[in-house]
Amino acid sequence: MSVIERMLRRDDVPDDGEFVRLSPMRRRDLKAGVLEVERLAYPKPWSSGVFQSELEQVKSGSRHYLVARLGGRIVGHAGLWFAADEAHVTNVAVHPAARRRGIARTMMSALAEEALRRACVSWTLEVRVSSTGAQELYRSFGFVPAGVRQKYYENTEDAIVMWCHDIDSEEYRARLDALAAGGVM
Ligand SMILES: CC(C)(COP(=O)(O)OP(=O)(O)OC[C@H]1O[C@@H](n2cnc3c(N)ncnc32)[C@H](O)[C@@H]1OP(=O)(O)O)[C@@H](O)C(=O)NCCC(=O)NCCS
Repeated sequence: MSVIERMLRRDDVPDDGEFVRLSPMRRRDLKAGVLEVERLAYPKPWSSGVFQSELEQVKSGSRHYLVARLGGRIVGHAGLWFAADEAHVTNVAVHPAARRRGIARTMMSALAEEALRRACVSWTLEVRVSSTGAQELYRSFGFVPAGVRQKYYENTEDAIVMWCHDIDSEEYRARLDALAAGGVM
């Protein structure tokens, strides 16, 4: 079992606020914290309807969404959209009061494991040019810029398209394990 698999299976750890606990996103999580985190994270947050539509698509297997809790409180959420052997990161958001504690890294690690479980070989995302912190996070997961979508956000801000290939390789396994262990690669 890999380091990250061990980390994600810590169901025995008490929910004492020290550990980030991940679970699949449920409809009830929307009002319980997801919508607030979303509103605090983005200038154009997803509506409840958008989340509900995404969660509907979890049932058919084309989406995967999770929430992160600290001390029982929802502090983050993230998701993937699967298309053939590619996974597209649709959303990664953390409550401003809970940032820089590794919550996004933990959620990204879990998304990577899910993408591998679904036999994906690449993953991709779009990120705002101004979101330099998020770009740093994605670079640590091996994403590299592959292009720009002009005026992608609100018809104003450009998006950087980032890709990460060969996630089914031994090298990528080592990167994920190093990230889970708190190391850098
Ligand atoms: C981007 C975001 C998800 C990061 O969440 P987070 O839980 O604070 O991130 P983590 O603590 O897991 O950070 C992991 C690494 O990413 C990088 N990183 C994250 N935020 C950063 C920032 N503001 N500045 C520089 N690097 C940053 C760092 O390398 C960090 O490692 P370190 O803390 O050991 O230096 C969060 O800031 C957020 O919700 N932003 C608004 C929404 C958004 O832009 N989402 C991305 C959409 S594409």
